[in-house]
Amino acid sequence: MAKEVIVSAIQASGNVHIGNYIGAIQQFVKLQDKYQGYFFIADLHALTEPQDPEKLRKQILDSAALYMACGLDPKEAVIFIQSQVPEHTELGWILNTITPLGELERMTQFKDKSKKRKNILAGLLNYPTLMAADILLYDADLVPVGKDQSQHLEFTRTVARKFNSKFGVTFKEPRALLKKEGALIMGLDNPSNKMAKSAQSPNNYIAILDEPNEIQRKIKIAVTDSGKEIKYDPVKKPAISNLLIIYSAMSGKSIKNLESKFKEKTYAEFKSSLADLLVEKLSPIQKEYKRLIENKGELLKVLNNGKEQAQKVARTTMLDVRKKIGLLCE
Ligand code: TYM
Repeated sequence: MAKEVIVSAIQASGNVHIGNYIGAIQQFVKLQDKYQGYFFIADLHALTEPQDPEKLRKQILDSAALYMACGLDPKEAVIFIQSQVPEHTELGWILNTITPLGELERMTQFKDKSKKRKNILAGLLNYPTLMAADILLYDADLVPVGKDQSQHLEFTRTVARKFNSKFGVTFKEPRALLKKEGALIMGLDNPSNKMAKSAQSPNNYIAILDEPNEIQRKIKIAVTDSGKEIKYDPVKKPAISNLLIIYSAMSGKSIKNLESKFKEKTYAEFKSSLADLLVEKLSPIQKEYKRLIENKGELLKVLNNGKEQAQKVARTTMLDVRKKIGLLCE
């Protein structure tokens, strides 16, 4: 029987952090054997924020290297760059033509991001239709993502349904796959906001490529709560609970187990142990990342191969879509 399909991506916006790792990449790695995975670098989505072209090119390759350094295996999963499969943009456009403006204007990410800037770009508004295209092209069953992407997944299901009822059944309605714990890692400097690449202060996140002394420093100054106990209580102790979730995801130990391990310990001791753990777990990833980035030829070969595999599927889907909506296909 054919494997079920999973599709997911990270934006090529630099500073891939442990929120991305825990919420998304850890899931990709865990699921890659059981499912047919398509994992790509969303470089076109990164363009919805101003980017320096030279830096963007580096971020794209860096993110691809990080995928593999974190354990994605090109023998198991298809790894590619979004913009190298132009069918993403084509389907994105077509989905725009059946999407009411109001649905896009209502998206939380659009509302949040557009509040922060004067000139709101159309690309930011149309972000979800491109994301829906990314997913629907590959007939995804499941989409492993962090909680911040749930609304986009709901939108994807809605637009798939709309297309199917207008033109005949074409797309599967994919489901989001969220981690029970770790689906939303909060900022180290403020546990009421999510950890985000776009955060103003780098003290908000631990980047996967942060140096050991940087990791130690950021964890040391991470916000804590009043009281002394290391206890999971997201309402009364949001900061410590967030650090416990990070500890648990990075160590594989349960939160209960960690609460008893740190029962008699101070916040400072807990944080110091967490910093050591992060350094220990991120160092091999950083080492492998460096090796991959220094062997650019090998990396490009993987991406080229991924592009070809992805495009085979994407072309078949687009031929069907083009026929159904009435474009000339001869
Ligand atoms: P991006 O690059 O913002 O984030 C990549 C993945 O990391 C998850 N994530 C988090 N998880 C837990 N805690 C956090 N603080 C945290 N921050 C981010 C995100 O939910 C995501 O799973 N729109 C997507 C990229 C994308 C995509 C797609 C994803 C484009 N096309 C198709 C899935 C399918 C994004 O901005 O990811």
